[in-house]
Amino acid sequence: MSSLREGPAIVVRREDYAPPAFWIDTVDLAFDLDPAKTRVLNRMRLRRNPDVAPQALRLDGEDLNLARVLVNGGGCSFRMDGQTLVLENLPEGAEPFDLEIFTTCAPEKNTQLMGLYVSQGTFFTQCEAEGFRRITYFLDRPDVMASYTVTLRADKDRYPVLLSNGNLVDSGNLPDNRHFAKWVDPHKKPCYLFALVAGKLVAREQRIVSRSGKEHLLQVYVRPGDMDKTEHAMNSLMASVVWDEARFGLPLDLERFMIVATADFNMGAMENKGLNIFNTKYVLANSATATDTDFANIESVVGHEYFHNWTGNRITCRDWFQLSLKEGLTVFRDQEFSMDLCADPSARAVKRIEDVRVLRTAQFPEDAGPMAHPVRPDSYVEINNFYTVTIYEKGAEVVRMMQTLVGRDGFRKGMELYFQRHDGQAVTCDDFAQAVADANPGSELSRLLPQFKRWYSQAGTPRVQATGRFDAEARTYTLELAQTCDPTPGQSDKAPFVIPVAIGLLDAQGRDLPLHLDGGPAVAGTQTVVLSEACQSFVFTGIDAEPVPSVLRGFSAPVVLDMNLSDAELLHLLAHDSDPFNRWEAGQRLALRRALHAIRAEGPVHQEPLDEAFVAAMRAVLRHPALDAAFKELVLTLPAETYIAEQLDIVDPQRIHAVREAMRSQLAHALHEDWIWAYEQHRDNGAYRPDPVSTGRRALTGMALTMLCLAARDNGNPVWPGKAYQRFKDAGNMTDRFNALSALVIAGLPLASEALARFHGMFRQEALVLDKWFALQAGAPDRGGNILPAVRQLLAHPDFNLRNPNRARSVIFSYCSANPGAFHRADAAGYVFWSEKVIEIDAFNPQVAARLARALDRWKKLAEPYRSAAREAIARVAAKPDLSNDVREVVTRSLAD
Ligand code: TRP
Ligand code: ZN
Repeated sequence: MSSLREGPAIVVRREDYAPPAFWIDTVDLAFDLDPAKTRVLNRMRLRRNPDVAPQALRLDGEDLNLARVLVNGGGCSFRMDGQTLVLENLPEGAEPFDLEIFTTCAPEKNTQLMGLYVSQGTFFTQCEAEGFRRITYFLDRPDVMASYTVTLRADKDRYPVLLSNGNLVDSGNLPDNRHFAKWVDPHKKPCYLFALVAGKLVAREQRIVSRSGKEHLLQVYVRPGDMDKTEHAMNSLMASVVWDEARFGLPLDLERFMIVATADFNMGAMENKGLNIFNTKYVLANSATATDTDFANIESVVGHEYFHNWTGNRITCRDWFQLSLKEGLTVFRDQEFSMDLCADPSARAVKRIEDVRVLRTAQFPEDAGPMAHPVRPDSYVEINNFYTVTIYEKGAEVVRMMQTLVGRDGFRKGMELYFQRHDGQAVTCDDFAQAVADANPGSELSRLLPQFKRWYSQAGTPRVQATGRFDAEARTYTLELAQTCDPTPGQSDKAPFVIPVAIGLLDAQGRDLPLHLDGGPAVAGTQTVVLSEACQSFVFTGIDAEPVPSVLRGFSAPVVLDMNLSDAELLHLLAHDSDPFNRWEAGQRLALRRALHAIRAEGPVHQEPLDEAFVAAMRAVLRHPALDAAFKELVLTLPAETYIAEQLDIVDPQRIHAVREAMRSQLAHALHEDWIWAYEQHRDNGAYRPDPVSTGRRALTGMALTMLCLAARDNGNPVWPGKAYQRFKDAGNMTDRFNALSALVIAGLPLASEALARFHGMFRQEALVLDKWFALQAGAPDRGGNILPAVRQLLAHPDFNLRNPNRARSVIFSYCSANPGAFHRADAAGYVFWSEKVIEIDAFNPQVAARLARALDRWKKLAEPYRSAAREAIARVAAKPDLSNDVREVVTRSLAD
């Protein structure tokens, strides 16, 4: 148990940053690995930081047993200040000195999965953000960069593979059937990038030669039975190496690059130098066990961690307030990587739409709720709570806007200058923005840099109000753009942001008009204007007839766009916009408008909220000869319940759910013939390959099958349920099999239970597949309150294990965070369940508990009786005396006004 909870919660403030009083130049670590009691000998060479006034050395530690401290080989005086080890009488002057610390820890008792822990008999570490202090006493902060030598000693039979960062320089046998391995990392690093792995593992290996002619060994380590699920991760890794060299000129700087998979992991993956540690979910895949989504996620997470090698590891963060320096930039890079792997523009657009959907359904609510914080926060209690969609996804949008403002080549120049200036350093978000601006003198970014950086300092999602005016006589079209941003906790007044707005104007035939901004030179297609004041007008000249505006193309800025387009205009954009993002967006706006109308209407929910024009437009997209299946699937997917909720001031989750279900059901019936057509046209895809084209076809097939099963549920016709069950049984890959199973479950058909039982039987040995099985049931549409009892039963299932984060997420998060229609119950039972689980999980894994705690972030928007019941549930959690700082920070902020 973290003893953090013994002390009062301390607020860490960005403005209090001070450089370290000591530097640690080298670290020599020796581990005697034993699950019950691991011995750690830490020999460091330190020196005083000449720029800081002489003071005591204060080393961070957590849950360690201290056995010995030696300075320059001799005894010394030290004291404990809480968990901090304080050394006051260290040698004076600038000379380096040796500090040796001997501690022990208990990896098998480490349930938090931070520091050194055991997962299925194998040792793993997780040190970001502040886990290294759970391994040894250290200056556990990212601006202290040291050279590491690591010796691992362990039983030869139980731990045949011994890995750490860098290069293996020595290995051999020891007495008592033990052996050792010695690793030297050639690169200096902050301690959060330290890693070790020891256990029974096997590796897929690949030798590659980089552009410069250097040889590298790539390895993917997994448990012995999982070798047949490593090919895709290895392919993704090779593609990542090639891409970073080609797009940014950044080569692999290591002889050996390893990925290791573990089933017990709090997050997705970790970029430890040369030894990435991954959640199995983002490594293991073959066509029989993983879906297209899994394949795509693996590609982007493998890319993400690999790209950190430069953006995060070679240049790291000065302090944790700068987290987005590495995370926002690296998410941007992994998004670009996935897009660049798409051969055609339509597939790129699909990726962009998916990324924006995540931003709008997860980050916008965060930005409007009690945990809202700037991309570079000003304070925190627990840094683990700030690994958020704001730091990651909004941070990536901020980097993307920089690229938009300086152009793709300009951005590459910016990256080059960033590495020229800061390679090997621990720096700030300011340093990055400055480098991109300085590499592009004369650009809008360089002109507006101080103002642009408000994206880092101000929280909240800006709203842009757009109004168009056509003047037939002057032959002009004037677009007036105005921006506002609501207050967020601790920030009441917001100054204007720098907002790049990409604009197109469509003529009556749906073609892009050439654009002359203020009579300037013609731009074909899209013109990006920069809104930097509260209100600005942009005049396009030479316009002969009233155009239809396409504003914020490609989602050129992370803002809410308010523009009152008529249905006719939106239908025009949906039919013709050359910008696929806005084409999709037009469909979403049309659907949203209808959803909001039905939600706001008096009386019982209208069972047919859609009009003929909307249905016809959806049919036209579905049947369109030139559009991709993947794009069609996105257009025909209705806005998520959480996204609809964000558009309302008062949220009745049950009504939102009922309206969205009615809309979906209406589409199922009204397009019945079209769904049959879509199913038949796209169902056969040959041998499985996770490429964008066949992925899109499978997605559309799955959607069609769900729609056909939904219609069958209402009309009692057994044909399509039978076909779905048959496809479920005969499917040649997990995507098709799982989509067929989902169709039966979502439609609530009697065959669903048979299929679920069969699926469980087929995959009882496959943990990641069982996670899907659990998640599908916990996330299924609620019918008369049936999901919560089902969830409680799932928790009692022999395959359920609360300690495994993936399994806990598959049931509890799928219910509390991803199934609003089932979670928000008028009897408050969903909230009671939530509070029980937050408290139960917090007792052994605060990081996971704190994420669950955020499921009720938006409680203040809820209608009664939900609002009062939610507040009560949060208060019940907050009243617990021995909460972790993680959960305490979340519930305290949630209850604050
Ligand atoms: N840096 C990791 C990333 O790539 C995030 C991460 C992995 C993490 N494990 C963690 C953060 C544990 C905090 C705690 O995004
Ligand atoms: Zn990352």
